[in-house]
Amino acid sequence: MVSPGSRRESTFTFPHSTPGQLDRMPAVSIERAKAVLSEFVLVNQETSIDKLVLGKENYTKFVNEFWTAKQRQANSIHEISYRACYKPQLPRFFIDIFTEKGDTVYDPFAGRGTTLIEAALMGRNIVSNDVNPLSVILTKPRLNIPRIDEIEDRLDEIEFGQSEADIDLSMFFDKKTEYEIVSLKNRLLDSDVDNWIRMVSTNRLTGHSAGFFSGYTLPPNQAASQKSQKLINARLEIVPPYKNTKEIILKKSKSLLRNINSKLRRELKTINSTFSSLDSRKTSHIQNDSINLTVTSPPFLNIVKYAADNWLRCWFNDIDASEVESRISLCRTVETWSEIMGSVFDELYRITIPGGWVAFEVGEVNNGKIKLDEHVVPLGLESGFHCAGVMVNSQDFTKTSNIWGVNNMKIGTNTNRIVLFHKPK
Ligand SMILES: C[S@@+](CC[C@H](N)C(=O)[O-])C[C@H]1O[C@@H](n2cnc3c(N)ncnc32)[C@H](O)[C@@H]1O
Repeated sequence: MVSPGSRRESTFTFPHSTPGQLDRMPAVSIERAKAVLSEFVLVNQETSIDKLVLGKENYTKFVNEFWTAKQRQANSIHEISYRACYKPQLPRFFIDIFTEKGDTVYDPFAGRGTTLIEAALMGRNIVSNDVNPLSVILTKPRLNIPRIDEIEDRLDEIEFGQSEADIDLSMFFDKKTEYEIVSLKNRLLDSDVDNWIRMVSTNRLTGHSAGFFSGYTLPPNQAASQKSQKLINARLEIVPPYKNTKEIILKKSKSLLRNINSKLRRELKTINSTFSSLDSRKTSHIQNDSINLTVTSPPFLNIVKYAADNWLRCWFNDIDASEVESRISLCRTVETWSEIMGSVFDELYRITIPGGWVAFEVGEVNNGKIKLDEHVVPLGLESGFHCAGVMVNSQDFTKTSNIWGVNNMKIGTNTNRIVLFHKPK
């Protein structure tokens, strides 16, 4: 296996697995994983070890800058905005340590597909699930990537009509831009190139720079409501200007594809992938003992309104946002959240291969007052997993090295907390 960063221990060499050999493959043991995390060194910082005490049990807490955007630039293909997404370096860290090429990586709360796209770039097979079908629309086209000339030809071919949207979008788009968007919405077919154009268009609908179809609005992953957009327009005294949608799609496509060569494009097409839009507690289509590694980040209590933030993206893709909203797990209390995540862990235990791993990322809710990691540890244990410990990835480690819990940082800005579980053999 490949060693992440400049880890001191870089002697992971496991036999290459082929389908059918998986259960004979020597997996990383829990002791080995702990040694790797303890001895990990990046940017000259050694891992600090602390104890998380839960009842009578102690769990190791590893604090370090385990990954950093500076250390290794992520592939440009990831550059799709999504609410509460994590950096590709996070899943890469775990995929590197715990899987081989040909293994299967899963994300039950896939979002924009960060885990799955990174896993596919690393030659792993992928299983993707998110209750919002938008996740498939954003992820799948980035495995079946058309060439730029194909995108250009197809854009030239699409004729724009003069149909208005079935809802009032005048506060977001100039009239001609709206016609173009409606034409794209209605005329795109189900082919690789059209699915790509649909994915890019979905991503370009609203945002606050010239590269979006809308006039000035909130950042692209937080669509304002029609009412709040009217207020933004009135406050800033703006009327949405005309935007050339084809030019914007082509420009964004070129940017997304700047790190994709023809070899990688071919390799990505060969990745075995499964997509679903189910509640992650009920994924009976995924076989028992079939997943080598899950890297995921669940919805955190009711902080982020995934469906509401994505309403315009849902409209563009004929997805009923309120129906999705009703199926999204939004919880007011840690108790209801724990109940739902407990069932998710039962399901993860069923589908994880003996010797396999789960890296479960949770944020610091309420400015660090609620540490969901401390609630997650017992949930995983109850489902049968062993806990290898809690990792705190601090991207500003030098400033916080003597402050346990890194409470002084703002939610989700610099710190990831990951609880690491192992399914015993
Ligand atoms: C924190 S986001 C995941 C972001 C992802 N890690 C990424 O990088 O894009 C949580 C996701 O969970 C999804 N979700 C919420 N409740 C769900 C459920 N019960 N089953 C499956 N997915 C759910 C939301 O739609 C949202 O996309």
